[in-house]
Amino acid sequence: MSGFVIEMLRIGNLSLSSKCILAPLSGISDLPFRMINRSFGCQMAFTEMISASALVHDSGKTEKMLRTGSGDMPLGVQLVGGETYHIERAVEILNAREFALLDVNAACPARKVTGSGKGASLMKTPGQLKELLKCAVRNSRHPVTVKIRSGWDDDSVNARDVALHAQDAGISALFIHGRTKKQGYSGSVDYGVIRNVKESIGIPVIGSGDALSPKLIKKMFDETGCDGVVIARGSFGNPWIFKEAEAFLHNGLLIPRPGLKELTDTVSAHLNMVVDFYGERLGILVFRKFFGWYVKGLRHSKSLRDRAYRAVSKEEMTGLMEELRGIKFVGKQ
Ligand SMILES: Cc1cc2nc3c(=O)[nH]c(=O)nc-3n(C[C@H](O)[C@H](O)[C@H](O)COP(=O)(O)O)c2cc1C
Repeated sequence: MSGFVIEMLRIGNLSLSSKCILAPLSGISDLPFRMINRSFGCQMAFTEMISASALVHDSGKTEKMLRTGSGDMPLGVQLVGGETYHIERAVEILNAREFALLDVNAACPARKVTGSGKGASLMKTPGQLKELLKCAVRNSRHPVTVKIRSGWDDDSVNARDVALHAQDAGISALFIHGRTKKQGYSGSVDYGVIRNVKESIGIPVIGSGDALSPKLIKKMFDETGCDGVVIARGSFGNPWIFKEAEAFLHNGLLIPRPGLKELTDTVSAHLNMVVDFYGERLGILVFRKFFGWYVKGLRHSKSLRDRAYRAVSKEEMTGLMEELRGIKFVGKQ
């Protein structure tokens, strides 16, 4: 296999040596999750999606979602909003913070988001999206990007048109999830739509969808000609995907999965960070799903996962981790 061309991914004034970016992930890409992924080669990561109106109305939860720390750079902040008033005020607030990119979400399919004219519903109103992006570009001191979908549904695949509107607004790069809003997260990614967008605009295009393994990440680059790839579900229980992807993209190497010691050390480090960040009570609730993802595919994983979903203390979760240290891999290597 020929080596991957080593060049930087440039977005505005940001230069990234790794073209694989950790996705914005609601309820998941908090500071501990980003730090675990960064420790295995993730360079650029995003916050969870932040509601522009919640930020303007100063919600404590939003403040926590924006919390960052040493080593958590470069960081992208993703805003979701449907009105220029909220975007303008939110951008003013964010201008006081240090981060690398400001992304506007036009991709979220959740009904509570699309129902109020935000997220993926902006795919139906490219003119409105352009106004929001112009407002963000005009007011933000950070480079602005957008995340779109391929369209609303199969009958309205309009990513190219939306991308042209977005480019006109002066954004620095475009992220595209190659599924329609109607598909949500099911079905396969449509590489053709992403390729069409890449061939139609002059700013960097970062592809998203089914980036679940090093081979599929390379496939996204090969099929679409995109400039970067977003890693989302592929990182669940597998922060190693970043170094696996780099090894495969640069040298064609498929590196083996970590052994049990590295896995349990990582789960333990992640648990400690989550408990420090949220406190024990909430931290254990937050950590349950991460534990389930880490043990997927291991022998006895169902029993471990079921018990993790009932755990209420760090002591219980640590006990499960001790059990994990004693079990064997099945099918995950
Ligand atoms: C649980 C979950 C939460 C997500 N949250 C966000 C979000 O807040 N903002 C966003 O732009 N995309 C979000 N996404 C979409 C991902 O960023 C990504 O585009 C999508 O999962 C497709 O990539 P994949 O098939 O490789 O997972 C989310 C996806 C999942 C599964």
